[in-house]
Amino acid sequence: MVKKALEALLKEDRVFPPAESFRRRANVSDPSVYDSAAKDRLKFWADLAGQLHWFKKWDRVLEWDLPYAKWFVGGTTNISFNCLDRHLAGPRRDKTAILWEGEPGDERRLTYVELHREVCRFANGLKLLGVQKGDRVTLYMPMVPELCVAMLSCARIGAVHSVVFGGFSAEALRDRINDSKSKIVVTADGGWRRGAVLPLKQFVDEALTGTPSVERVVVFKRSGSAVPMKKGRDLGWEELVGNQSDSCEAEPLDSEQMLYLLYTSGTTGKPKGIIHTTGGYMVGCYASTHWIFDLKEEDVYWCSADIGWVTGHSYVVYGPLLNGATVLMYEGAPNHPDNGRFWAIVEKYRVSVFYTAPTAIRSFMKWGDDFPGRHDLSSLRLLGSVGEPINPEAWIWYHQTIGGGRCPIVDTWWQTETGHILISPLPGITATKPGSATRPFPGIEADVVNDQGESADSGYLVIKSPWPGMLRGIYGDPERYREIYWSRFPNLYFTGDGCKRDKDGFFWLLGRVDDVLKVSGHRLSTMEIESALVDHPAVAEAAVIGKSHEIKENAVVAFVTLKGRAKATPELNQQLKEHVVKKIGSIARPDEILFTADLPKTRSGKIMRRLLRDIAEGRALGDTSTLADAGVVNSLKEKYEED
Ligand code: PRX
Repeated sequence: MVKKALEALLKEDRVFPPAESFRRRANVSDPSVYDSAAKDRLKFWADLAGQLHWFKKWDRVLEWDLPYAKWFVGGTTNISFNCLDRHLAGPRRDKTAILWEGEPGDERRLTYVELHREVCRFANGLKLLGVQKGDRVTLYMPMVPELCVAMLSCARIGAVHSVVFGGFSAEALRDRINDSKSKIVVTADGGWRRGAVLPLKQFVDEALTGTPSVERVVVFKRSGSAVPMKKGRDLGWEELVGNQSDSCEAEPLDSEQMLYLLYTSGTTGKPKGIIHTTGGYMVGCYASTHWIFDLKEEDVYWCSADIGWVTGHSYVVYGPLLNGATVLMYEGAPNHPDNGRFWAIVEKYRVSVFYTAPTAIRSFMKWGDDFPGRHDLSSLRLLGSVGEPINPEAWIWYHQTIGGGRCPIVDTWWQTETGHILISPLPGITATKPGSATRPFPGIEADVVNDQGESADSGYLVIKSPWPGMLRGIYGDPERYREIYWSRFPNLYFTGDGCKRDKDGFFWLLGRVDDVLKVSGHRLSTMEIESALVDHPAVAEAAVIGKSHEIKENAVVAFVTLKGRAKATPELNQQLKEHVVKKIGSIARPDEILFTADLPKTRSGKIMRRLLRDIAEGRALGDTSTLADAGVVNSLKEKYEED
């Protein structure tokens, strides 16, 4: 992928300056913001923080004791208050906060005052269940407004939410509950996905066979499916909130109070709980949303990400609500009942700002221009992309076919760890180039460095100084935090991404340089899939790689050696795929499994995944001089080509 992407990007020289009409109305249009922010980063962030509500103002903007940052030290605030209460005194009180469409076509609208009421009731319900400041609450929910309500309720009382994406399996859910030692799980009787109900409660029941910390389960009724309720443990959402008061004061919380945990995949077999705290994260989400998505009072803003991922946290829930926006939320799949569902939604709700992932854009391209062509997309005025490098071809298609050539595209680079966007165009200022995320956001110091950590035109993307929404650590594992992000280069945050910088100082992201895979925008670790495979009794060893894929960016390919007696049958092949689904979830299902007698290894026994990638992508093999047994790759290559 990296090589191919690089080749395509190097040829790209088109430039799209902002239209004068856009620039004139943009939230920021003065390019001097970059210089003034660079001159005094702390003042830049403090000025933005000053636009939000603080119960007590901070004493110091930043305390930096590498690798630990504290932002707005000594200040107390509440992100739920800033998302809700702050808007209630003015005209936003009765403005639509959430515009929701279920997959079957049902609709709901919640104004800011209504959302506030729901949040207060649920927050009171959580208190009734004994949830206290600092307690962890796992949310395993479909894309329904109640997921936002639950997050904002936790934030209101200082509880820590840990949202687990509904596509993760019961076992993956169990691991995440146990790592966070959650007291409460909030789930639903199901959620609609491609015409079927995803049985979330059933997965929770399975997960909870081994989760000693969980006391209560709250079940929201979404699908109406009958689900067993365990006496003394499970209770219905309505039952819980039924008698609760509509008011619940937002707790003044320390700026560094933990806001949420979000598990993400790294380079080991075990997912890591990324810690985000309150004040800095709030300021970063607020400012980036305002500047990058250029939200106006009348906008209908739609970020199609699932809230189970960080994009949903920062740009479905917190960022837009902090800005008092109208947020559209859609429950289901983009191809249900047909491939034009997204465009039908844009037309119906007059969506004006739309944010999605390159993998979705490439699927839309493949499905053909007819689907968007059948709908009126004239309400759109700004488009965004996130999650992977966007290839120039997809960028141009998005720009022309969806944006009608008139909408600026913001290609936004960031990570679960960064909390908010760090590299992106500012749509009223930046002349964009298809395939480039352009420049660091004002106040962000990013660089590209070579293997020695020296500034270079091509190499690794690093961040040189702390930013407000940065992760504060890995839950329960401070050593791993230091090692993963701060040990590759002294004093620099290592992103794990390859990057090139052009003569104009624009950044071109080239994908991961480590064992993290992006598969249809989902972040997976090769090691995690390998651990799932070797967990099967027939498997001796497994090596997983990402093979370039036209739509998904990567397809998961596994090379598996079997234990003595096991037979390499198509049934076993299928069984192993299902085993991965059971251990992690359907998002990690291998596209291909190849049985092999041996894996290519170095003399010290390290699997050479690079060669496996060459084999899977049908390329000439790279340097094989460190191979212990050259015969292994040759026979593997032949076998792969045969299969
Ligand atoms: O490789 C980069 C890629 O997504 C990774 C972060 O994944 P995750 O934590 O799941 O967060 C995704 C949503 C923020 C990064 O290390 N990535 C994200 N955005 C871009 C990107 N790669 C290229 N261009 C982007 N705009």
